[in-house]
Parts: sequence; structure tokens; C-alpha cells
Amino acid sequence: MTTATSKEKFSYRVWRYNGAPGELIPLLQSAQEHFGYIPRRAINYISGVTGIPESDIYGVITFYSQFRLRPMGKYVVRACAGTACHVSGAKMIIETIEDELGIEVGDTSEDGMFTLNTVACIGCCSLAPVIMINDETYGRLTPASLRKLLRKYIRKVGETAASIENVSCAK
Ligand code: FES
Repeated sequence: MTTATSKEKFSYRVWRYNGAPGELIPLLQSAQEHFGYIPRRAINYISGVTGIPESDIYGVITFYSQFRLRPMGKYVVRACAGTACHVSGAKMIIETIEDELGIEVGDTSEDGMFTLNTVACIGCCSLAPVIMINDETYGRLTPASLRKLLRKYIRKVGETAASIENVSCAK
């Protein structure tokens, strides 16, 4: 049995679009699954086939935080906003990341290096506040230690990531 590729699924959804309410969302999810984000050419293609104005498609994409207009960064920073991290200063941690990287939650930096997202819980609550950068987990952060960590990533982009001590946590 063959399984449809993400490209086939995307194409299938575009061509079967019949204007039913809510049908654009799964179509855009399919585009994002295929491309990793929703590129301009996909919006152009969807608009051309379905007749939906590009401006309307952009409106939907920018309304829902699940959609991205840029590819994910080389380093994906996941800041925990769960309860344990929240009471341990997650808000300040997130603001520090935003300030250091010059992006807001949900954005990717202009140079494509960093994407910042929040998550509900990383599973290392005893180490709050916690973030992950790709597969590495960093806990008991302070704004100062976080800035130091992020600057290491910024400096070492393209190389093996920061040598600052990361913590492991059994999930
Ligand atoms: S709440 Fe942040 S790791 Fe669990």
C-alpha cells in the first residue's frame, strides 16, 4: 500500500476545495506540513486554484498562531510557559529571549537562525524556569545566564551549539 506524500495531500486538498466554511484551515495546514511553513508561492497557487484572494489567505494565516510565513530557524527555542516555570519567572525569561534575539514568540529571526515558541511543559518542572534549544534542555535560568547562553548560540551559529553546561532530565 502506498501512502500519499505531503505534496500529494496538499495538492489534493487544493483541488478538492469547494468553498465550504472552514475548509481553508486544513488546506493551509497541509501546505505548512509540506513546506514547513507557508511560502508565498503556495499562497499564490492556492489563490489561483480556489479563487480566494491572496489578501484573504494572508488574513487567515496571520490570524492563527499555528501558521508560519517563514521557515523554522536553525535553532528552535522553546520557552516553557507551564505553571512551575510561570511561577519561577517564565515571563521574564521569554522577554529576555525576545530582547536578545530581536523576535517575538512565534517569529523567526531575519537571518533564519532562531525561532521562538512557547510550550505548555517541557517535563523538567523541578528545574524551572526551563527552555529548550533544539534538543538541549536548559534549566534554573536567570536572565543573566540566559543572555550568556543565547550569545553563545549566536556566536557559534553554524558550529556545534553552545558549550555552556546543559542539563538532562529524565522524562
Ligand atoms: S512547567 Fe516548565 S518544565 Fe514543566
